[in-house]
Amino acid sequence: MYKTFVFTAIDSTNRAAFQLAQQGIEHGSAVLAEMQTNGRGRLDRSWHSPPKTGLYCSIVIRPDIPVSEYPKITLVAGLSVANAIDEVCGCTTSVKWPNDIFLNGKKLGGILTEASPVAPENFSPFAVVGIGVNINNHSEEFPLDVAGRATSLLLENGRTNDIRAIFEAIRAGFLVDISRLEREGFGEILADWRKRDMLQGKVVRWLKQDGGILCGKCLGPDPEGLLVIEDAFGHHHQIVSGDVLLQVGQ
Ligand code: BTN
Repeated sequence: MYKTFVFTAIDSTNRAAFQLAQQGIEHGSAVLAEMQTNGRGRLDRSWHSPPKTGLYCSIVIRPDIPVSEYPKITLVAGLSVANAIDEVCGCTTSVKWPNDIFLNGKKLGGILTEASPVAPENFSPFAVVGIGVNINNHSEEFPLDVAGRATSLLLENGRTNDIRAIFEAIRAGFLVDISRLEREGFGEILADWRKRDMLQGKVVRWLKQDGGILCGKCLGPDPEGLLVIEDAFGHHHQIVSGDVLLQVGQ
């Protein structure tokens, strides 16, 4: 049976969950914290994690899929998080490739998946799925560099939302979705993800890691989970990582 480790404060739930996973913690176990002092985001960014306002959790999974398919896990988690929030809070969230949850055009949460490059001795390979959701933040609590682009459930529904209930709904749904991935493959999950895709059909800019920019129409993720952008000449580009932004005015 999986376990839940709850901390009042921790550096990063992903760091702690990764360590527990290396020691053999069961599939579905999670680390949950009221605040993080070194919350990590994607692309080496930090994740602002003030006390008792957000959900900061990391779930360890040991999925029965080849490690080469692990990049799909972030998309699965995005769908599970969006479904759980809508169910518990009665809102309509969107997903943005590869790891963002949006509500009413602003970022509500994000996912940072970290996998063990090699299976630790005696244990099956694992991934740590770190989930951060802005739950009861007031607008002045966001750092200046994200204020205006970020939102919280409180700001959108005017209520103080139950962080633990949202976590339990996310974990339950995510474990069901991972079994779905193991048994049925990625097709149905991808179809559900696409229904929530806020970039589908929109003109986007992809900021490459080398500083270059590609503009084009977003065709959504392909069956491998890579994003496809069609440029002005009709050429398709498969995007593995980096930032994809909506062209202004859409
Ligand atoms: C992103 O949008 O860049 C991903 C943010 C992920 C943040 C969560 S908070 C819980 C977990 N622990 C971390 O250090 N990061 C993730």
